[in-house]
Amino acid sequence: MSYGKIADARQSGSEILVTFENGELEVTAYTDSIIRVFSDLSGVRPVSHAIEGNKRTDTDVTMSLTEGCVTVSTKELTVKILDEGKIDFYDKNGKALCQDYRGERKTAKELSLEMKQFVEQEGHMLTEKSTDHKIQVVKKLDPEDCFYGMGDKTGFMNKRGYEYVSWNTDDPFPHVDSYKSLYKSIPFFITLKKEGVFGIFYDNTFRTYFDFGKESDDYYFFAADEGNLNYYFIGGNSIQDVVKGYTYLTGTAPLPQLWTLGYHQSRWGYRCEADIREIAENMKKYDLPCDAVHMDIDYMRGYRVFTVDEEKFPDIGALTDEIHRKGMHLVTIIDPGVKKDAEYSVYKEGMEKGYFAVTPEGGVYENAVWPGTAVYPDFGRREVRKWWGENHRMLMEKGIDGIWNDMNEPASFEGELPEDVVFYAEERKSCHSEMHNVYGHNMARAAYEGLKELTGKRPFVITRACYSGSQKYAMAWTGDNQSLWAHLQMAIPQLCNLGLSGMPYVGTDIGGFGADATKELMCRWIELGCLSPFCRNHNAISSREQEPWTFDEETIEIYRKYLKLRYALLPYLYDLFRQEEENGLPLMRPMVLQYEKDPETRNMNGQFMLGESLLAAPVVEQGAARKMVYLPEGIWYDYWTGEKLEGGRYVIRKAALDECPLFVKAGSILPHYPEMDHVSKEKDKELILRVYPGEGEYFHYQDNGEDFAYRDGEYNLYHIVSREGQVSVDLAHQGYEAAYEKVLVQDGTKVPDRE
Ligand code: GLC
Repeated sequence: MSYGKIADARQSGSEILVTFENGELEVTAYTDSIIRVFSDLSGVRPVSHAIEGNKRTDTDVTMSLTEGCVTVSTKELTVKILDEGKIDFYDKNGKALCQDYRGERKTAKELSLEMKQFVEQEGHMLTEKSTDHKIQVVKKLDPEDCFYGMGDKTGFMNKRGYEYVSWNTDDPFPHVDSYKSLYKSIPFFITLKKEGVFGIFYDNTFRTYFDFGKESDDYYFFAADEGNLNYYFIGGNSIQDVVKGYTYLTGTAPLPQLWTLGYHQSRWGYRCEADIREIAENMKKYDLPCDAVHMDIDYMRGYRVFTVDEEKFPDIGALTDEIHRKGMHLVTIIDPGVKKDAEYSVYKEGMEKGYFAVTPEGGVYENAVWPGTAVYPDFGRREVRKWWGENHRMLMEKGIDGIWNDMNEPASFEGELPEDVVFYAEERKSCHSEMHNVYGHNMARAAYEGLKELTGKRPFVITRACYSGSQKYAMAWTGDNQSLWAHLQMAIPQLCNLGLSGMPYVGTDIGGFGADATKELMCRWIELGCLSPFCRNHNAISSREQEPWTFDEETIEIYRKYLKLRYALLPYLYDLFRQEEENGLPLMRPMVLQYEKDPETRNMNGQFMLGESLLAAPVVEQGAARKMVYLPEGIWYDYWTGEKLEGGRYVIRKAALDECPLFVKAGSILPHYPEMDHVSKEKDKELILRVYPGEGEYFHYQDNGEDFAYRDGEYNLYHIVSREGQVSVDLAHQGYEAAYEKVLVQDGTKVPDRE
């Protein structure tokens, strides 16, 4: 749209209203580093699904108006608003960070109809050419600009040169680099410039488009055809600052229950109680640490949600008791589609109360998912969320420990829901095109709030579909990947970009969901998977079985080695979660998040950091027995051997099938648990501190791992300092009664005697 010339500008506190000949722009400073740009183009000002509560702080803002330019400044940023609604952002030193592009977008060349038909003969897919959009923000692109974030999009870390669409999509075909959409819509990206960095969050739940220099080397853009212009510019001195800014707005992930960080074994196709029992027994039999078994749709009666097939699962309560006695937990799947069946209480009640989405004509909208014809709860309404949350009571009473939300894009087997199906945004009548991308978000919220109310514990909710801010309610997995080396390779950038997009608690289906894993792929996947925040082996009913014992003795041994590594590192992972809850920084970090001043890290896809101390470089290529690893400047220690290595260079490390190169930064203090086969009270008996040469300081956090008492101070915080070979441990906060009986300090460079 054309705004025309600036007519006037008025300031009210930290909000500036700029009036143009043909429109208005609001520029609001939320903080010194976060500026919102808003223009009401739809006549509706939706309440944000991503940002809850008031995030506006008292910010000093100055404004001046000169011919054709409004200048707005905070302590950190200056924004220049120009004729035609062009906007430029500068840092406090006057360096341009982000400028609107002054030219026009190139128009794409269309193929002739004849040529289209010709290429389609062999089955080639024609990609739609991107055209001008009603709302489109086109920014100047510089040669060195890199782009990160965007949630679960396929491909590599740096999104430069690719285009994406935010539209939650359930696509079972192998997810490849050219995919524009997957299950999650997180319309947030970070631009790392040669000097300087910022993020942009385009808070518009309608279908949004992003092009990071695919169409042109001169510009990148984000766009939509519906909704408003409504983006947040997030500044800062580092990528870390930008992620902190983004999670300040959209929230951080709450500290999870400790057991959820253990290992989870899952498969679509555990068809009866005996199958579940057998899995739990095998985990013990093969000495494989495990904290959870998942129950996929097989447990339901005819795929009716909130029911149990009593022929195959006659006594779920007794089954959970038994699993609990083994120190494990049970997690059940819940899909949103409610089977159309007049005899089924969830359907009946939802129909009576008018809780399902309707067509514009007023009839309940029907499509199909696993149970056949199904209807869709309207999760945008508070009362529907409450009802849905309450429906979990039966499962909670039977002792189920977590809920796995799936198919919540929402999936639909009879074609996509029409855009005009009626959904509500609380009391406001809305439609599918606006509520699609927040459907999974609101479903996860319903489950989170329901579980919290019913159990008082930190809810363990998994979701497949997300929008920005879903991290407050659920953790996520990356959906239906496949047993492909390309998907193991993609796991690193995909999980790292999710972390940069505010979702720290994420994992892939270890081993791959679709297709058949080979032994080698399985071993390499657990080496990576045991270091990803969520650690679950899951696969499809149509794929070969992939529990570790379905391969050979060597696979079991390798699997065991890495599960034991994960359990040893649990206190470190938990500490990272506790910090994440405070500052929004993910556990699994791309190298560029930790070392952004080092240009070498900008395109690094094959290795990552776990917090600040551990560098992991898993092998993700078939047949490889070596791995090239980049060690940033400084001293590093091989986690396995204690070998000292000089950084600031690439090293080639031997990596036989049972070896995952792992390095520890000098000066690190890494907390470990003694060997355990599941998380239990044992966690409070002994803590091992592996201390590496160099000056070090570390805070270790301990609580009951289960409920919200920590928010009332029921936790311990240990302050550990290592200086010239001396290690001191002090209790900086004491509020949790079960302080460790023993704290063991070990030299990290010495291979521990595990006996
Ligand atoms: C979907 C999920 C998958 C699950 C299956 C059956 O494909 O992504 O994880 O196993 O549905 O419920």
